[in-house]
Amino acid sequence: MSDEKKLLFQAKNMYKSFGPTKALVDVSLDVYAGEVVGLIGENGSGKSTLTTIIARIQKGDQEEMYLEGQPYSPPDVIAATAEGICMVTQEQATFEDLSVAANIFIGEEKQFATGPVVNNAQMKKAAKKALENIGVTHINVSTLAGKLVFEDRKLVEIARAVYADPKILIIDETSTTLGKRGRDILYSVINSIRDSGRAVIFISHDIDEIMEVCDRISILRDGHKVAEMEKKDFTSLGIKRQMVGREIEDNFYRNDYDGSFSDEVALRARNLALGCLRDISFDLHKGEILGVGGLADCGMHDLGRILFGLDKPDLGSVETGYGKRIKKNTDAIKNDFAYISKNRDQEALFSVMSIRDNICIASLNKLANGLGLISNKKEKDLVNTWTNELQIKMDNMNQFVMYLSGGNKQKVAVAKWLGFHADVFILDCPTRGIDVGVKAAIYQLLSELKAQGKAIIMISEELPEVIGMSDRILIIKDGLISGEFPRNPDLKESDLINYMI
Ligand SMILES: Nc1ncnc2c1ncn2[C@@H]1O[C@H](COP(=O)(O)OP(=O)(O)OP(=O)(O)O)[C@@H](O)[C@H]1O
Ligand SMILES: [Mg+2]
Repeated sequence: MSDEKKLLFQAKNMYKSFGPTKALVDVSLDVYAGEVVGLIGENGSGKSTLTTIIARIQKGDQEEMYLEGQPYSPPDVIAATAEGICMVTQEQATFEDLSVAANIFIGEEKQFATGPVVNNAQMKKAAKKALENIGVTHINVSTLAGKLVFEDRKLVEIARAVYADPKILIIDETSTTLGKRGRDILYSVINSIRDSGRAVIFISHDIDEIMEVCDRISILRDGHKVAEMEKKDFTSLGIKRQMVGREIEDNFYRNDYDGSFSDEVALRARNLALGCLRDISFDLHKGEILGVGGLADCGMHDLGRILFGLDKPDLGSVETGYGKRIKKNTDAIKNDFAYISKNRDQEALFSVMSIRDNICIASLNKLANGLGLISNKKEKDLVNTWTNELQIKMDNMNQFVMYLSGGNKQKVAVAKWLGFHADVFILDCPTRGIDVGVKAAIYQLLSELKAQGKAIIMISEELPEVIGMSDRILIIKDGLISGEFPRNPDLKESDLINYMI
């Protein structure tokens, strides 16, 4: 960058601890006008802590910040927004019981009110404009946010943040909740903010995406800033090395292209129809990793729920390999199915329960002895095994899940089902928000499960992982299977995208 770049925001001497955890230790961050700064680091390295302090969702123990050269220390989020800093958070931040329009203007309803009465028609019109402003036309502003698919809820949050016209927009681990269409929208929002001389702080675990989107990055490790890099110096290996403090492999997917699996069927889906899914049939085999891809709203996430008996299809059936019908969720669990939901905060975890209880809950029956008693030791062993294997960063196993970083929450969701010793794994975006090091560990585990003859269906919006890990790939479009691909070293993302859109 040239010398004349203008310093827009500066944070210095930032400290934050949570009990014994030092989340930030003397961290600094400079943001220049007209740039996208990436913030990258392993799960629990302090990215969300730093940015939520900047956005005033929480306060630092010690902090020194300047916006356009002036001391910046607004008391709360609303004041931060007024000063020009907005954030799209890692966790879901829409209210289910409010309409899309009310979500976009939460706290701002006054502008549509005459006296005590809010003019709903006016608010809806403005909400529609706010969505169109970021290129979203498919969301009805009267719908309750709780009725929207996961991706659309995030788009509502982006529209809300952009509508405030911020000088700095912070985007925390949002792209992995979005499919292709949502990402394209996000990138055009980022580009327009950069092009107008404002700035974006962008957090992602996708290193290729970081290298593409960002002009500069800051790397955090265990609450310390360990490096800064300019775009010209970006290399995937270099970034990873700084993140984890040692060399790590660049290619973490399977390196075999055998793609074979047993003829024995583990799950049989026949003519499934629900919502936008019209007619889906396939067999999942023992020892098979079956990847399922498509656009975010193609119905693939609903498919996961149907297979696990959480939603009842209008038509069609799900059966185990030995012909047992799965009609309800309890049938699925009894038949040793496991499921990780994409919507981890609402569906996969109990935030106000301990890490230990979350991991053990699915396995209680298996941990019990003949008398139905659960051995404390067995429970602790199970938790220790999986928290070590997945490197879950926590104070202790009795800590509430709500206090973990986003990626560490996801690891708990994964640990819960690995500990369950299921036969059929239905995984919806299993590595969402997980850092590269642990991603590699999860892929390794999937390969081991495959080798043990387990059947795995992996629904994902990350095409590289679908291609890198699957024995077979199904692409869903318009409620039907539009393409089927066997494992093949020459398969490219563009081959799949052609069948998605
Ligand atoms: N409210 C809280 N109470 C206790 N510990 C917390 C709290 N918030 C964060 N932490 C801890 O602070 C550390 C930094 O967490 P942070 O959420 O900033 O990580 P992150 O870099 O955003 O990780 P991820 O990539 O997983 O989102 C973690 O060890 C986390 O467990
Ligand atoms: Mg985070």
